[in-house]
Amino acid sequence: MKKRIGVLLSGRGSNFEALAESVAAGRIPNAEIALVVSNRENAPGIEKARARGIEARVIPSKGLEREVYDKLVVAALREKSVDLVCLAGYMRLLSPYFVKTFPNRILNIHPSLLPAFPGLEPQRQALEHGAKFSGCTVHFVDENLDAGPIILQAVVPIEDRDTPETLAERILREEHRIYSEAVKLVLEGRCRIEGRRVLVAR
Ligand code: GAR
Repeated sequence: MKKRIGVLLSGRGSNFEALAESVAAGRIPNAEIALVVSNRENAPGIEKARARGIEARVIPSKGLEREVYDKLVVAALREKSVDLVCLAGYMRLLSPYFVKTFPNRILNIHPSLLPAFPGLEPQRQALEHGAKFSGCTVHFVDENLDAGPIILQAVVPIEDRDTPETLAERILREEHRIYSEAVKLVLEGRCRIEGRRVLVAR
């Protein structure tokens, strides 16, 4: 049976599209994207999902307490029998309730080499800090912001002429590549977590 992926997003949805393309092309074998959820009404990712014939729901988070909101999202994911949850530009912290419901079955992508530069505008943070390299990280999700055991990272050199936008563009290309790779590894059961380390059977 195909593994069922649920994608949560808040905006543009390019990482969702990269995952959808990898599923369609067989780079993530034996899988399907069962549901896309956005907490924001006008997230372009929602239309992108519908254009691909993938079910997409807006569940607005405004005014709801974290756990109350997360219960709505978890119910939607359960209804679709989702095996793996992929955060793809989902700009919300998950409650302990959410994390416990999908133990080691929630992934996130972040555009920096974690643990450096978590949070907002990590590309700007890296430039302003004077880092010479940045990149992106796919990790298992826990209750903390951009934390949790690291599955894959890709390094992107920072150039003198970079702006946050040019750096973000080069990092994004790597995000699209390693997110699909990490999803494949996790769905194939090739990641073993030991403390903070993720050991990958290749
Ligand atoms: C991506 O760069 C993703 O890594 C980042 O938001 C962007 C979403 O773009 N996520 C985070 O910063 C999470 N802390 P997308 O909607 O085109 O995938």
